Amino acid sequence: MNKKYILGGLIILIILIAFVLFNKSQQSTPITKNTQVVPVEKVIPQTKINTATTSDKTKITIATSTSYTIADIKKHNNEKDCWMAINKKVYDVTLFIASGKHNPQILKGCGLEATSMFSKIGKHNNAKVQGMMPGFVIGDLK
Ligand code: HEM
Repeated sequence: MNKKYILGGLIILIILIAFVLFNKSQQSTPITKNTQVVPVEKVIPQTKINTATTSDKTKITIATSTSYTIADIKKHNNEKDCWMAINKKVYDVTLFIASGKHNPQILKGCGLEATSMFSKIGKHNNAKVQGMMPGFVIGDLK
């Protein structure tokens, strides 16, 4: 009789332990299992991440926009690597050129402050062009 009670108690204990362990494993499974943390500099390519430490030793991160000098832009002056400055913004149009969606005239602006060239073309003022410009921005002109 006594043995039966001990056995019954043991079974209940085992079930309880199994239940607790199962619950724990469920909790430790992150809800965000399939989400990925993407660094801000990948989402917004023109941002640079700076870290700073506040007086109470808290680490903070600040996203600042990158700026380039004319000398930086000058180094990217060809069809395979083409940057240009237009209205104080710096554009990397290398992939745009490679896509073949622009006429070869654009090459004249590679490595230069190309605002005047760009503005001379009336069509650059249309909504389609203005809408695509931000996609090529890599930073500001210093
Ligand atoms: C970020 C830089 C640039 C972008 C995103 C851009 C974009 C475009 C787009 C989308 C068009 C076609 C517009 C349309 O037909 O509706 C166009 C036309 C044109 N672009 Fe650009 N462009 C850029 C820079 C330049 C530069 C530096 C030049 C140099 C002169 C240039 C010269 C031209 C010319 C000649 C046309 C043809 C205009 C016409 O068909 O009458 N572009 N551009």
